[in-house]
Amino acid sequence: MYDSEQRWRAVDGYLATTLVDEDEALVAARTSARDAGLPAYEVAPNQGALLALLARLGGARRVLEIGTLAGYSTIWLARAVEHVTTIELDPGYAELAERNLAAAGVADRVELLVGAAVDRLAELVARGGPAYDLVFIDADKPNNPAYLAAALRLTRPGSLIIADNVVRDGAVVDPDCPDDRVRGVREFLELVRADPRLEATALQTVGVKGWDGFALVLVR
Ligand code: DHB
Ligand code: MG
Repeated sequence: MYDSEQRWRAVDGYLATTLVDEDEALVAARTSARDAGLPAYEVAPNQGALLALLARLGGARRVLEIGTLAGYSTIWLARAVEHVTTIELDPGYAELAERNLAAAGVADRVELLVGAAVDRLAELVARGGPAYDLVFIDADKPNNPAYLAAALRLTRPGSLIIADNVVRDGAVVDPDCPDDRVRGVREFLELVRADPRLEATALQTVGVKGWDGFALVLVR
């Protein structure tokens, strides 16, 4: 807990109440995740709204989400675009997400794939469907490099790749951090930097989710 955390929370609460239209279905999705004992890894309300806004800004029609959890960000994205493919490792989480997506009225716009994302992504590549306009990477962090590689095969020039949790309480600056999640994030960022096809930045965030950040990666 940081000294400022209460204030970060208060400001997030104020911003969400003032600007963000979190309806009953979104609140229920968040609450259902807590009731079912899932970790509080879903994005904050103002971050969900940011994802939806970025999707609309880019005119995205098809979104790929890696890491569904209980479907909170999935609902935000599905309300902004025509189609979301989302991948969840845990069958119990996926079942809960199915219920939340149905309650939010977006089930018909979402394809939920269950299992290890590296496997499901390989199947999506093999399927050869239309490119995704936006990819939201928000699953297990050690696999972020693999998720980036798959995202590059499933997108087109102009697509946006967003990765959550790239700051991790500042741990990202430590090249010797033993945490596999931090190592995965650092490797992801280094791969992005080294790839001439990609233009990127990252932003730190504070709020109800503590101190973390997003990377925004444009496929040129
Ligand atoms: C973790 C994962 C997340 O997606 C998140 O938003 C916060 C934490 C984690 O694996 O620790
Ligand atoms: Mg996350």
